[in-house]
Amino acid sequence: MKFHLVTYGCQMNKLDSELVKSRLCRAGHAETEDEDEASLVLLNTCSVREHAEDRVWSRLGALRARKRREPGLVIGVLGCMAQEHQVFLRTRMPHVDLVCGTREFGAIDELVERAQSDGGVVATGDGVGGDAVVRDVEERSSRAQAFVSIIRGCNMPCTFCVVPRTRGEEVCRPVAEIVEEAGRLAADGVTEVTLLGQTVNAYGHGLGRGVDLALLLRELHAIPALRRIAFITSHPNYLTPRLMETMAELPRVSRYFHLPAQSGSNATLSRMKRCYTVERYLDRITRLRDMIPDIEFASDFIVGFPGETDEDHAATIRLMEEARFAQSFVFKYSPRPLTVSGDVYEDDVPEPVKQQRNQDLLEIQKRISLAKNEALVGEVELVLVEGPSKTRGDRYTGRTSRHRLVHFPCDDAGLVGSYVPVRILEAGPYSVSGEVELEVAEPLA
Ligand code: SAH
Ligand code: F3S
Repeated sequence: MKFHLVTYGCQMNKLDSELVKSRLCRAGHAETEDEDEASLVLLNTCSVREHAEDRVWSRLGALRARKRREPGLVIGVLGCMAQEHQVFLRTRMPHVDLVCGTREFGAIDELVERAQSDGGVVATGDGVGGDAVVRDVEERSSRAQAFVSIIRGCNMPCTFCVVPRTRGEEVCRPVAEIVEEAGRLAADGVTEVTLLGQTVNAYGHGLGRGVDLALLLRELHAIPALRRIAFITSHPNYLTPRLMETMAELPRVSRYFHLPAQSGSNATLSRMKRCYTVERYLDRITRLRDMIPDIEFASDFIVGFPGETDEDHAATIRLMEEARFAQSFVFKYSPRPLTVSGDVYEDDVPEPVKQQRNQDLLEIQKRISLAKNEALVGEVELVLVEGPSKTRGDRYTGRTSRHRLVHFPCDDAGLVGSYVPVRILEAGPYSVSGEVELEVAEPLA
């Protein structure tokens, strides 16, 4: 059977999709890029914002028409929306044959088989289950890079967020299992691993005394082939002194730190139940900068959270100016059903105001990113080559150890997956460009 899989949302979803693909291929199915050619269409979905869900609903609308013409077509909804809207999908979307929640990917091949033969809806919660985490190391989208899930679910109380409900309670994988997987990946050519979790630095809960992200990083750092070890996404509350010291001590741990602040106003942070103040947030990043001077931070921000005033927004702008993030992801607040802010707070910031605040933050970030990128001009950076540029055919792209996107002319496809020194010649707000420099005076980190 030919299948087509569409992935929405976060990095964790992309990893889940890799797992699904690998299971289906092992069961004898073949992937196709062409949706019209597929007799099995799977959507791996995201519920974080309404917009993400709307895109799936409209795709399902289009698939309904196709199913009328081709009754043999099998349509599956996977992931967060399958978890969140299972009843609706089961009862109101008769063209959907398969509904598979966030913790049942491990049995996807079996579910597909049943959906094909049963005729009825095969749905999550039917007890088919299966551990989604163990995977084939060969199944990954890049030769040198791999994502490794270390903690699933989330126990934090952020009032705007649907993730704790769609992905459930925090579950951590044992250290030995992760180290074993990373070792297999390294033996298969991976040099950069990115550890994944919704609150990745909360890692260790339930695994015994002394087990935390710091310990895991130390164990992974002992695998010499791993040249870069990154982790996303962290919660400011779990940024412990021990984690900071460990990061400073281990040179191959990424110097790009995604630590979402969400807002620069204490009043908003308190209503979001983020459990820190802006002063504490700034104190933590200042301490880390003192310990690791070349570290770069990235943040997420939500604009237009219920009750956000002009003063609150001004406070977020001050935080941005002070923290000087390398990158910020800015989202307009979107009320989610069955969350505290979605159900209890009024979504009272008008859309044009959200739009304006969104624009303000993006412009400030653009200016800061450009200044940071301009400061790199003339420097030589070690770049992990990712592949041909999506926008310019004659260029390749890669990332520096601080996650900076670099474009450079290259005609050697054999360089993909290797580390090359690139002299930065030009800077834009979202990337820099330069030329491969083969003669470097001293080894680069
Ligand atoms: N810790 C998670 C966060 C998941 S959601 C992670 O791994 O990244 C990603 C980002 O979406 C959040 O940091 C937040 O900025 C944004 N977000 C979450 N819920 C939202 C909502 N209801 N409206 C707008 N943005 C939201
Ligand atoms: Fe969501 Fe907050 Fe967890 S943003 S994923 S509830 S840390």
